[in-house]
Amino acid sequence: THAPQSYNDDLRLAHVLADSVDSQTMSRFKALDLQVETKPDLTPVTDADKSAEDSIRSQLSRARPRDAVLGEEFGSSGHGSRRWIIDPIDGTKNFIRGVPVWATLIALVDEGRPVVGLVSAPALGKRWWAAQGTGAYTGKSLAAASRLRVSNVSELSDASLSYSSLSGWKERGNREQFISLTDKVWRARAYGDFWSYCLVAEGAVDIACEPELNLYDMAALVPIVVEAGGRFTSLEGADGPFGGNALATNGILHSEVLQTLNPDHDDLL
Ligand code: IPD
Ligand code: CA
Ligand code: CA
Ligand code: CA
Repeated sequence: THAPQSYNDDLRLAHVLADSVDSQTMSRFKALDLQVETKPDLTPVTDADKSAEDSIRSQLSRARPRDAVLGEEFGSSGHGSRRWIIDPIDGTKNFIRGVPVWATLIALVDEGRPVVGLVSAPALGKRWWAAQGTGAYTGKSLAAASRLRVSNVSELSDASLSYSSLSGWKERGNREQFISLTDKVWRARAYGDFWSYCLVAEGAVDIACEPELNLYDMAALVPIVVEAGGRFTSLEGADGPFGGNALATNGILHSEVLQTLNPDHDDLL
């Protein structure tokens, strides 16, 4: 039998990448000359998003020349089973408006499985990370970290739910099911973006879900939630491939949330 594969060196590299990109993005946060453009999909992007992705990609091409890369702003390059997935700034709209809830997301996917995830939110002074099999952590650095553990809330009526926006549910055609879920829980708040999922890993929120997400919005979040003891699936309960939408919970509440969101399916786990 093989020893389980270690991704510790890749996790260390993710921290190094985040350290260098954090100082760049922070220098552009609230900058008076921030350049904002509108992409073909009508969403905004700034010079900070592009230079952050550019810098991560050029460091990766030196440190991991054989690995493939996928980033939100510059697409995909390379082939192979190992692929780095980058969202240079998750929460661009917050970044533009001066709200500190934005982060750089760095993930390593190996044969389709997200095995390393790091979320660095320098304006919040927070970082969260995980590597497969070694737990999820938060702290300033690898050396100054505390372990994350999801909550043990077991009743929807005691649960805290976080989401990003309401609009996608309408397009997906199950806004009513989402509203009925928000009626069943103790509280529903839009902490938004990466933050909802990091709060699930911390045990501060019990359910995070989103109807419209790309792979780069969630690849880094999967190991953080799973290594903290939670469950991460699609809104229909699939354990992968990831992309499209997302449901993360403390695990205990997962099947009840799936039933509420998919009332016509009686075979969900
Ligand atoms: C956005 C965030 C948001 C989600 C949007 C994404 P961006 O990412 O992840 O939570 O609702 O669909 O586009 O553009 O700020 O990286
Ligand atoms: Ca974007
Ligand atoms: Ca994003
Ligand atoms: Ca982004």
